Amino acid sequence: MRVLICPDAASAARRTADLLCEHVARRPHAVLGLATGGTMEPVYEILRERIAEGSLDLSSVTTFNLDEYVGLAGDHPQSYRATMERLLFEAAGIGPDRARLPDGAAADPAAEADAYDAAISEAGGIDLQLLGIGSNGHIGFNEPTSSLGSRTRIKTLTRETRDANARFFDEGEEAPRFSITMGIATVLEARSCLLLATGEGKAPAVAAAIEGPLSAACPASALQLHPSATMILDPDAARDLKLRDYYEMVHPAGGEAPL
Ligand code: F6R
Repeated sequence: MRVLICPDAASAARRTADLLCEHVARRPHAVLGLATGGTMEPVYEILRERIAEGSLDLSSVTTFNLDEYVGLAGDHPQSYRATMERLLFEAAGIGPDRARLPDGAAADPAAEADAYDAAISEAGGIDLQLLGIGSNGHIGFNEPTSSLGSRTRIKTLTRETRDANARFFDEGEEAPRFSITMGIATVLEARSCLLLATGEGKAPAVAAAIEGPLSAACPASALQLHPSATMILDPDAARDLKLRDYYEMVHPAGGEAPL
């Protein structure tokens, strides 16, 4: 696992965007796994700027988002489909046929989850998966105790996650209770994973993911099994890491040290 501790949250977002852009420059037809959440918004802002200035072309990629709320159709403003349209798809010119999310309004959400997992395989699998992390260690919406062998399926959200997401919903509107999320095994099949975490609220989960035991109690710890996982952190999210000096020696300021 590569642990990159960047000087601040803005440079961590930039480092994430840089790695994604380098990947797409090498593979213009890449299959990208995308995440939503507040942490990713600065990353998508950078990508939109690069598209506008002409230094990034996402028009040939295929994307699969990690998750969607059950019960929200794509035209609901807080659905992840609508959020991604606003944050990236519109600017990138990626149409719905190649910008994929589970359909939260599907009549049979379990069948939709199975079909989504199959669609990822049919597309050849995910080349690069972007991830955030919940303060309880979730990735996608794989809440603690999710099976490390799980596939895309329906997950009940914890009270903590619903409270954290309530900020995106209007007052009086209840945050959804269920999601369709890629499973942990689905995520681990991506050829590389890039997890971005910023802010001290994430520090305990980040430490558990990187240095804790491999455990369903912290779903992000499953990334310890991944042969190509990179954790991009700001100093606040890195606060609780015991081997921080080591990570900073190997990757000064989150960069690459010459051999
Ligand atoms: C959503 C997702 C979640 C978020 C996580 C962190 O697609 O994958 O795992 O990444 O809940 O959310 P923020 O960034 O809002 O703290």
